[in-house]
Amino acid sequence: MTTTAGTVSGERIEELQQIAGEHLFMHAVQINDWRGSLKIFEKGEGVWVEDIEGNRLIDAMAGLWYKSAGYGRKEIADAMYKQLLAIDSPPAGSATVSQIELSAKVADLYPDHGARIFFVSGGSEAVETAVKMAKKYQSLNGKAGAFKVISRRYSYHGGTAMSVSLGRSPAADPMGPEMPGAVHVTNWNSYRLPYEGDPVDVAVKCANEFETVIIHNDPDTVAAMIAEPISAAYGIQVPPPEYWQRLREIADKYDVVLIADEVITGFGRTGEYFAPSNWGVQPDITTVAKALTSGYAPLGGAIATKRIADSFIGGAKETFRHLITFGGHPVAAAAGLANLEVYEREDLVGNSRRMGDYLFEKLQRLYDHQIVGDVRGGLGLLAAVELVQDRENKTAFPADAGLAKRLPKLLYDRKIVSFRAGDIISLCPPLSISSDEIDFVVDAIDDALTQLEKDLGV
Ligand SMILES: Cc1ncc(COP(=O)(O)O)c(C=O)c1O
Repeated sequence: MTTTAGTVSGERIEELQQIAGEHLFMHAVQINDWRGSLKIFEKGEGVWVEDIEGNRLIDAMAGLWYKSAGYGRKEIADAMYKQLLAIDSPPAGSATVSQIELSAKVADLYPDHGARIFFVSGGSEAVETAVKMAKKYQSLNGKAGAFKVISRRYSYHGGTAMSVSLGRSPAADPMGPEMPGAVHVTNWNSYRLPYEGDPVDVAVKCANEFETVIIHNDPDTVAAMIAEPISAAYGIQVPPPEYWQRLREIADKYDVVLIADEVITGFGRTGEYFAPSNWGVQPDITTVAKALTSGYAPLGGAIATKRIADSFIGGAKETFRHLITFGGHPVAAAAGLANLEVYEREDLVGNSRRMGDYLFEKLQRLYDHQIVGDVRGGLGLLAAVELVQDRENKTAFPADAGLAKRLPKLLYDRKIVSFRAGDIISLCPPLSISSDEIDFVVDAIDDALTQLEKDLGV
């Protein structure tokens, strides 16, 4: 028996739970943590989603950081259907109108309008592509031995073997030896500064570690440096402008390709189409995925500035020999185009800026809770609330306080979908959110924290 939205009986729900419990891997979570109680969703509209039992909630995480245009956009579904009927995918070595038009649209929105985009299927592939492109660029431009890539600890750059090497996230499974040439530096953390001193000086010091590592490794061996403009994996860490400005200077000085991993921040999340624009910085390559289609179809890309991309024009030697069969699938490209039309028609990037300021301001009242250590954000619709046992010493709750399980439940009961809220409640709602909906989210968090404090005896 198949199931369609709105027609699910209690018996069928039980059956689905049983089947999922036996046959499904959920990504990056313990099977025992969801078996028998998996959340199943069948409807969505705007920022609201409805689970199979009829509970209506706000998705405060935009799916997994991607549902920027919100749920239920008929024009995006129509564009995909139209493309499917016309031609779902072209013969080898050719393109569809949707792919060509989306490349033009992305270049138009990107600060360097001469940019060229290599389409892939998602964020990890975008990172793989950017790194390969950077290495080949270097070999074509006199640094044939440059294979090293510098990244930051506690980042997230994807789930494939190479991107895991770059991310060095403690959340990733140990994989044995990393990619040869993966070198790591200290990450920026505004709440727990990695060094003592004025935050701007500390940020510059963190950026300077890239330079130290380049010098120690011999600049001729370093191909690229990569960072998320705002690290979501590390708890929404917004650096001061000087950080990325310094990264740009260092990349220029040593001829190292600067890659901005904008898989989360790209397409409006920070109140600009691309986050480094907030700081007047142009990276050499930008990786994008999630919000490019608002998750209506899997699509990613590595956007190269004209300077980088032009190196690949020539003969056999200059050819970028990189191929992902379904990269830039025409139906996904049609979704991307329709998605970006929604962006422009509804000024979603402007709304991200305006509602981001509103959200950040409203979140400040959560400091009334003793367990709120830090409220971060202030750059578009991306924010975090970090909970601590002891505010003065910024001491984290011990694992046996059970926040990782308690908090998502408290929020869900108050009609908020969060993503693994534990010590850190991340907020990344659709860019179409209204001020009333933000009030709903903040009230729900406020109430959940009141209950949590009661439960913990704070
Ligand atoms: C900054 C960043 N890079 C890369 C990725 C990997 O993207 P994907 O899961 O689409 O492969 C993610 C995923 O969340 C990400 O946050």
